[in-house]
Amino acid sequence: MLFLSLGSNYRFKQAWHHLWARGKDSDSQELIQELTDRYQAKQTLLFSQGRAALSEAVRLATGGQGLVAVNSLTCFVVIEAIKTAGCQPLYVDIEAKNWHFKAETLKQAIKGKDVRAVIVQNTIGMTVDIDQILELAKQANLAVIEDLAHAVGGYYDQTREIGTVGDYTMLSFGRDKMLDTINGGALVIRTDQPKAEIKTPHNLPSPMQRFRDRIYPMIGWKSRVLFGIGVGKLILALAYKLKLAVRSADGGNHPDQTLTNWQAKLALEQIRGLDQAVKNKLEVQSSYLEKLAKFNPQPSSNGVRLPLLVEDRTKLIEALKQNGIMAADMWYEVPISPARLYDKVGFPENQRPNATLIAQHTVNLPTHQLVSAKDIEKISQIVLAEAKPWSL
Ligand SMILES: Cc1ncc(COP(=O)(O)O)c(C=O)c1O
Repeated sequence: MLFLSLGSNYRFKQAWHHLWARGKDSDSQELIQELTDRYQAKQTLLFSQGRAALSEAVRLATGGQGLVAVNSLTCFVVIEAIKTAGCQPLYVDIEAKNWHFKAETLKQAIKGKDVRAVIVQNTIGMTVDIDQILELAKQANLAVIEDLAHAVGGYYDQTREIGTVGDYTMLSFGRDKMLDTINGGALVIRTDQPKAEIKTPHNLPSPMQRFRDRIYPMIGWKSRVLFGIGVGKLILALAYKLKLAVRSADGGNHPDQTLTNWQAKLALEQIRGLDQAVKNKLEVQSSYLEKLAKFNPQPSSNGVRLPLLVEDRTKLIEALKQNGIMAADMWYEVPISPARLYDKVGFPENQRPNATLIAQHTVNLPTHQLVSAKDIEKISQIVLAEAKPWSL
């Protein structure tokens, strides 16, 4: 069976390596240096979660007041991060082309409002019209925060890597992301004019949280391997029940907590291998695209997943499931995901019609290391047989 998530970045050998990894202070320092060089930072801070790095980016960018413009197709924890920083989200509606807002919509949305920062997300690595957004941000005095949770390793164009153009760059090392140490993140500060005091996190996550981070790849591996005979689902349910794992949008936001040294060591290995990992995923994406070009809104610039818009999403997800491809855990099934937390957000669906519709037609196909040429062929055949392209 193939999954979009559930620790698919980990084969058994990698899960074992993760379980026993050791790290030193010097590993954290090396990671900081690597990120500082790569993203031309003034300062880099490590966090135990990407969302904590994001809330600190928002606090520094705004002084902890006002509105922050955010994509209307995003994760619950992004909204939580904005609120943790003391701000409120201003949802900006998106385009079918790249599942992101364009500069003109942003311009209309901020008119007459106290908007202090904009988060640029490059959904699933599909790039935005960055020059127009940067120009508007300059005119309107908005700080630009690049959220690399999806887009790390991608490029806006031949020369500008995503994460090298804004005032703040946030990285996630959360599970099933391109860089994956189960939890973790970094904040790259690229401006020398933050609007609040920079605080370096010093606390470690709780011992239980550190234990959870250690064992998740093994839990994920075991449940994937045993899913076909019904045991995998049971393992997962038990892990959640016993709190040996928490669902990815749960766990709160902890800006006081830093990354452990062993996770820093693993993140460093991964960031040094990032360009190769992107190359591999782009090859997988190209193989899909040869067969599925008519479905694709815009290729992902880092190949993290293949984004598609289809008429009947439920039918396609079910057909894939019948063939052992579990693709329900997509980015994103509702405008502010996951669905189980969506009602809490109070998302203004009527005023953001594009995001509301696009979320109903979104599908992601897996591009990770476990996807073989045979899988690509099989998945593409199912898509061609069961789905029709959709657009606004
Ligand atoms: C777009 C986006 N930004 C930020 C985050 C936060 O990352 P983390 O899970 O590392 O806190 C996520 C997490 O899912 C995300 O999807």
